[in-house]
This record gives sequence, structure tokens and C-alpha cells, in this order.
Amino acid sequence: MDLHLAGKVGIITGASRGIGRAIAQILSDEGMRLALVARSRDQLEELSASLATESLVQAADLRAPETPAIVVAATLERFGRLDLLVNNAGATKRGDFFNLSDDD
Ligand SMILES: NC(=O)c1ccc[n+]([C@@H]2O[C@H](COP(=O)([O-])OP(=O)(O)OC[C@H]3O[C@@H](n4cnc5c(N)ncnc54)[C@H](OP(=O)(O)O)[C@@H]3O)[C@@H](O)[C@H]2O)c1
Repeated sequence: MDLHLAGKVGIITGASRGIGRAIAQILSDEGMRLALVARSRDQLEELSASLATESLVQAADLRAPETPAIVVAATLERFGRLDLLVNNAGATKRGDFFNLSDDD
């Protein structure tokens, strides 16, 4: 499949395993360069080495409020552009969004 993504740049959060890892593999096969974000550096490094395109490993905890801006800045510094965010990292906590706290 050609999704016309070759040369574009994306940030994939939660890329170390599961759905995020599979998304990263598919987008790399489509020719995208990727910033790979999760806490598990070893898993991100292993994924990065296996991808068909250039990738940037960013081992970081997205619960820290400063992390998103750091990730975006590092991605722009490396690749000079940013076309896509796959905001996949996380774990489910059920409830009304507006009643959930930062700790949730
Ligand atoms: N699987 C399902 O059936 C399902 C259904 C509905 C929604 N979802 C949602 O889809 C997303 C992916 O699901 P999945 O099944 O692939 O989950 P998963 O296998 O548990 O993977 C979660 C990913 O998020 C990363 N992550 C978690 N907390 C993080 C943090 N604080 N900072 C940075 N990275 C963090 C994990 O990496 P590290 O642990 O290395 O940080 C991992 O790469 C999640 O948001 C989940 O809630 C999944």
C-alpha cells in the first residue's frame, strides 16, 4: 500500500510495545521517519534498529508535564519537520473525563 507518507515525520507515543509498536512498523514501511516515545529505552532501541527508516528514540515519561514539548523540540531538531502525532501511549482509567484528576 502507498499512503503517500514517504519522507514525512511522525511522533509515535507508546511505541515500545503493543498497538504503538505495530503503528510504528507500518508507518516506517510506508517511508515515514519516526520519533519513538515510551519509558522503556531498551525496547525502543530494539524497535528503532529494526525499522526500515531513520528513527529517533526518546525514552521519556509522558506523565511529566514538560515531556511533550521536549519531544516535539527534539523531533524538529532532528528531522526539521513534523507531520503526524500518534497519541497512543496510555492505560485506560474509566470515568467522566472532566471528573478525572491529574493523578488519574
Ligand atoms: N488494547 C486494547 O484493547 C485497547 C482498547 C482501548 C484503548 N486502548 C488504548 O490504546 C493504547 C495502546 O494500547 P496497547 O494495548 O498497545 O497498550 P500497551 O501494550 O500497554 O502499551 C502502552 C504503551 O504506552 C507506553 N506508556 C505507558 N505509560 C507511559 C508513560 N507514562 N510515558 C510514556 N509512555 C507510556 C508503554 O511504554 P512504556 O511502558 O515503555 O512506557 C507502551 O509502549 C493505550 O492508550 C490504550 O489505553 C487499547
